[in-house]
Amino acid sequence: MATIHIDPTRPRSRIAPEIYGHFSEHLGRCIYEGIFVGPDSAIPNENGIRRDVTQALRKIRVPVLRWPGGCFADEYHWQDGVGPRESRKRMVNTHWGGVLEDNSFGTHEYFELCRQLGCKTYVNGNVGSGTVREMSEWVEYMTFGGLSPMAELRAKNGHEAPWRLDYFGVGNENWGCGGNMTPSYYADLYRRYQTYVRQYDPGAPIARICGGPNADDVNWTRTVLETCFASPHPDGAHGYMDGLSLHYYVHPGGWDHKGSATAFSDTEYYATMKKALHMEDLIAMHSAVMDGFDPEKKIGLMVDEWGAWYDVEPGTEPGFLYQQNTMRDALVAAVTLNIFNGHSDRVRLACIAQMVNVLQSVILTEGPRMLLTPTYHVFHMYRDHQGARLLDAEVEGAGAVDGGLPAIHASASLAEDGTVTVTAANLSLTHGQDVTIRLRGVPTARGEGSVLTGDVHSHNTFDRPDAVREKKLDVTSVGPAVTIHMPACSVAAVQLR
Ligand code: AHR
Repeated sequence: MATIHIDPTRPRSRIAPEIYGHFSEHLGRCIYEGIFVGPDSAIPNENGIRRDVTQALRKIRVPVLRWPGGCFADEYHWQDGVGPRESRKRMVNTHWGGVLEDNSFGTHEYFELCRQLGCKTYVNGNVGSGTVREMSEWVEYMTFGGLSPMAELRAKNGHEAPWRLDYFGVGNENWGCGGNMTPSYYADLYRRYQTYVRQYDPGAPIARICGGPNADDVNWTRTVLETCFASPHPDGAHGYMDGLSLHYYVHPGGWDHKGSATAFSDTEYYATMKKALHMEDLIAMHSAVMDGFDPEKKIGLMVDEWGAWYDVEPGTEPGFLYQQNTMRDALVAAVTLNIFNGHSDRVRLACIAQMVNVLQSVILTEGPRMLLTPTYHVFHMYRDHQGARLLDAEVEGAGAVDGGLPAIHASASLAEDGTVTVTAANLSLTHGQDVTIRLRGVPTARGEGSVLTGDVHSHNTFDRPDAVREKKLDVTSVGPAVTIHMPACSVAAVQLR
């Protein structure tokens, strides 16, 4: 029997809602089909955007959406994606399947999507193959409220008022697909490009995100911070950046042997979980470097690509990265989000890769049909952590699985209205556990919750879309504690009042 000790009288850092963010790239069927079907589609849509998908996404309170890439961002030329759709320039999406990109989803469509979702905006600019002028004019096009050539072009294209741009990424993976740069070369370029991310409206600042490391590359982190944050800046405040990105993907057997999304052994499952838990080490190691430059934590670590990456579903285009999503992925999401909560003093934004039909998606579509994946349900169960204050969640007596992984992995937070949310994952494939949640300094605890469980391979299909779904959890109150049962391979969320 495990106990999770929580002290609601000692709240810590605020959990930025943006930690629960998403990523949508022009890749495979993420944007096209998955989100945007066009206004003339028979699939019910609002201004070309699927209604079923946005309805589902609103329920998990998507806080921020990153677009248009990914690797695609460093080949994207925004001017090709504005103006009348029928005359937009076409291009080849060289990164992802070599397919024709007709640019029918561009800047206006992206901001319309974010309006429909009620989320913050995060646009990723092109450093790899774009010019400073191009980037600067895009920012002007999106955000300038006065009279200017780009503001006039925006109005001519149907949007008079400027949009609110919350985050702007200066390049993507510039150590790889974004130009194969060295850290020092990128750092110099970053300083130059970000200069032209003009802050036209002092009341609506754009947070500049510097391209960060791949996984454990602390040398990259150190070099870009040295050049872009530590060196003096005329305004003396935030150096040249507000956030540093970090990308990390989980695959059981390495890049060459990622393995199947649905047919995997117990050994592969535990290897996946071990790699998911490695996020803790990565954040700790990059945070330590960041602390050296920025002890006041002015800049955020933005994990703007994370998730499980397996072999594509048999018979699908390799460049489309389409994979199924099982209970294993629910557990990957659960421990990763617990970890982000735990580091919310430094991690201020994170985006799962990707939102629909690509990698560890929360939604899959097939023609007019749509399903919610186990990962979707985890985001739904964890939604009350958004904006709450982190609480320490000390797990005692849960034991270990597979020779060292924690059997129960948990996180807790305190909302403004006093509700304590506890989320936990049982990583064991064989043993269920009774788990007592004990609140310090509280005479009685009462709660309600939900649980997601099933065989680790279980997943939703278009014929059985509810094979894995949230179910009500029995929560038994005993004085200042409640007890729940967590079946093997499960995720639970409890709200205590
Ligand atoms: O998410 C898929 C790809 O993974 C992104 O385009 C790239 O940034 C990363 O390597």
